[in-house]
Amino acid sequence: TGMFTYDPGFTSTASCDSGLTYIDGDEGILLHRGYPIDQLAEQSSFMEVAYLLLNGELPDRETLDTFKTTITRHTMVHEQLSTFYRGFRRDAHPMAIMCGVVGALSAFYHDSTDINDPVQRRIASHRLIAKMPTLAAMAYKYSSGQPFVYPRNDLSYTGNFLRMTFSVPAEEYVVDPVIEDAMDKIFILHADHEQNASTSTVRLAGSSGANPFACIAAGIACLWGPAHGGANEAALNMLREIGTVDKIPEYIARAKDKNDPFRLMGFGHRVYKNYDPRATVMQKTAKDVLEKLGVKDPIFDVAKELEQIALHDPYFIEKKLYPNVDFYSGVILSAIGFPTDMFTVLFALARTVGWVAQWNEMISDPAQKIGRPRQLYTGPTQRDYVPVDKR
Ligand code: CMC
Repeated sequence: TGMFTYDPGFTSTASCDSGLTYIDGDEGILLHRGYPIDQLAEQSSFMEVAYLLLNGELPDRETLDTFKTTITRHTMVHEQLSTFYRGFRRDAHPMAIMCGVVGALSAFYHDSTDINDPVQRRIASHRLIAKMPTLAAMAYKYSSGQPFVYPRNDLSYTGNFLRMTFSVPAEEYVVDPVIEDAMDKIFILHADHEQNASTSTVRLAGSSGANPFACIAAGIACLWGPAHGGANEAALNMLREIGTVDKIPEYIARAKDKNDPFRLMGFGHRVYKNYDPRATVMQKTAKDVLEKLGVKDPIFDVAKELEQIALHDPYFIEKKLYPNVDFYSGVILSAIGFPTDMFTVLFALARTVGWVAQWNEMISDPAQKIGRPRQLYTGPTQRDYVPVDKR
């Protein structure tokens, strides 16, 4: 059976060429189209990063304004889509809702999506980026029993999302620039991360020529798992469960115990064997946001102390386990007012940019083929069928 390379989990297989994102896991470096993630998070905006990932270069002022206007034009969703939401149990997990409604969008954009036409692909990409905040806010509204809020196009991408999430008819939500800025940073930090599980899922689904809205729904499904995007929710639940600094050693001991399935959520990464550069920005942002909002949340102290203890523990040192992007994001999102079950939805919203950029790159690659891994067969050798009464 030596015909194929056996590589479970694809730890050493490159599935494609890509010019989008570079990661050096040993050095803890992450670049989008060559630009370091910390510079983008500190100085750029999510819309600009979206343009960069899609088009390869940073836009000039006029191009950026045109891009923002284009995205804004697509923020509404078909009124009938609200019916899909109402079909879910009211306590449905918002990620379950997102898998469904984004997949359902393929029915609304079925005929108009010729994926071999770059113009059609661009429109589909813009629609997805523009509609995700609307869909995510609607998932939140539905699960909290509040009426849906329509997009308002005079607000920024992120400001509009916050308003659709937190406004109620009785009281208009006024977007706080501190929160808007932090949210935009979080979106930038999640925008792309080369061939991670959900992105590879989108590529694999898209490699058959499938409808892009359906492909993104596949990515959302993959992202949901606790080993991937679901880790931000799991990390915050873990920090709340730990609760106080004195309980940390107990959890560290559990994480090290091979007979205990418990892992430190928000720790470790397939590619980073050093500090995840996104976690550095995230920790700083968490500190700023809590300070500026005057929020005192003991879980931030628990998180910082847990990090310090783990970073000095031989187990974590030897296995090169460092905080990843999901470790501190929950502290910020929770201070902003999001319930934990919305965390992965926010990740999906931001990662949609990476997914569509990667999908476009794949479709336009002349080497593109349907993704079709091989296997090493371990089942029975050939044998004859025996009728049921003779078994
Ligand atoms: N806590 C305790 N031990 C860990 C952890 C952890 N968080 N992560 C890895 N290990 C151990 C693991 O038990 C294994 O030990 P051994 O070699 O003795 O069997 C070793 O480290 C290597 O782990 P692995 O599972 O073989 O590594 P992987 O590359 O397959 O997994 C990972 C990477 C991110 C799934 C894993 O580190 C993990 O489960 N972390 C917690 C979940 C998490 O934070 N995920 C978010 C990842 S970043 C954002 C994203 O992708 O969405």
